[in-house]
Amino acid sequence: DVVTMDKVVALTKRRGFIFPSSEIYGGIGSTYDFAHYGVLLKTNVKNEWWRSMLQERDDMVALDSAILQHPRTWEASGHLAGFTDPLVDCRACKMRFRADHLDQLACGRKPSKHPGETPECDLTEAREFNLMFETTMGPVKDAGATVYLRPETAQGIFLNFKNVLQTARKKPPFGIAQVGKSFRNEITPGNFIFRTREFEQMEMEFFVPPDQAQQWYEYWQKHRYDWYVELGLRPDHLRLRPHEADELSHYSSGTADIEYLFPIGWSELEGIANRGQFDLTQHATHSGEKLEYFDQGSGERYVPAVIEPAAGADRATLAFLVDAYDEEDVPTERGGSPDSEGSAGGARGDTRTVLKLHPRLAPVKVAVLPLVRKDGQPEVAQEIVDGLRRRMQVEYDEGGSIGKRYRRQDEIGTPYCVTVDHQTLEDRTVTVRDRDSLAQDRVAIDELPERLAARLQA
Ligand code: GAP
Repeated sequence: DVVTMDKVVALTKRRGFIFPSSEIYGGIGSTYDFAHYGVLLKTNVKNEWWRSMLQERDDMVALDSAILQHPRTWEASGHLAGFTDPLVDCRACKMRFRADHLDQLACGRKPSKHPGETPECDLTEAREFNLMFETTMGPVKDAGATVYLRPETAQGIFLNFKNVLQTARKKPPFGIAQVGKSFRNEITPGNFIFRTREFEQMEMEFFVPPDQAQQWYEYWQKHRYDWYVELGLRPDHLRLRPHEADELSHYSSGTADIEYLFPIGWSELEGIANRGQFDLTQHATHSGEKLEYFDQGSGERYVPAVIEPAAGADRATLAFLVDAYDEEDVPTERGGSPDSEGSAGGARGDTRTVLKLHPRLAPVKVAVLPLVRKDGQPEVAQEIVDGLRRRMQVEYDEGGSIGKRYRRQDEIGTPYCVTVDHQTLEDRTVTVRDRDSLAQDRVAIDELPERLAARLQA
């Protein structure tokens, strides 16, 4: 495999996908800003999630709950007491680690294997560290004003269960889907956008009659796994791994992770959990509200069980970037027809970096490139852009040799480049270059929108 995390970090910075946050002030650990192409890519990831979870089904409704919720939410959910990681300090190197991740000591010095000249790590006892970010509601900073930035979007769904049930005309089995920011004061964030303290989740809580929990748990594992494959992740870099009993979260009676083979090794991409009746029962007890389903047909009243597929939008975006990244030797490419003016400027046979993103995820679908910045070519290219932009994300680029412009679009992951050359001015045809095969077809301008739209649906 050619891909490393450093190469992905470098490409996303160089091409304007992802920047380290607050860089002019020296950065603030493990926070990132999404730049132009990163916003387009992550938006496509989230839209594909919505398409699969909501648009293509009729047993789902959407929700966007607040980040700040009543503090008692986190008492009921178990997060105040139990959402902790064991933390140890090293008295020698003054660094902090997760006690269960001592193989990843940030100082690079494992307790047992210090080079002679450096002091031994001198670890304190582990103490539990709550991962929730605290802040204060209102101007007065007293104890009663403490609120938390949500560490998962899921609880906002449970809080709204009753309201949704009363308005959505759904009965179990049905789901509530939500995408939004979550915050965790991770002890050891890192590996680029894999683990950050502020991130976006794509979560869905699926409410089912308790005797159907196992069957839906299995259904959602397969459905979510297939989503990643459909969007192009290599199946041999994906696996489903059931949790061992001692790994289960406090709320879960069964969890399976979808794992991806990142450059850092097999790591969690998404968790599918059987949360049983835990959350609705807890919130019913703490709030005094009945959180049940009453089936008017059968007269039956029950607390639904919950199956939860919980994914990370940033982590999925990273997996798609890593999986799409390739470096390959390619022949010299010409722009336009073989005898056209741009051939001399074509890239020589060399190595290219390319993001072979699924067309539905690619930030830009089509780049329109006039071969030369004269002879009416820019005007025709601009006209083509105007004809395409209502249907897809297009980009116009006239700067630099055609070979360099192709390379740039390859690194952005643009599936098609449309090149306007001197023949275009004669017969109103253009070349369409395919990112992956490098094949160039001549297509009539009038047929472009239909032809491109058809190929991009693929
Ligand atoms: N509601 C269940 C829940 O939050 P989780 O396994 O803690 O489960 C779900 O989180 C997903 O959210 C993870 O699989 C991962 O993709 C993403 N995620 C969790 N913590 C993250 C972090 N610190 N940075 C980036 N993504 C994170």
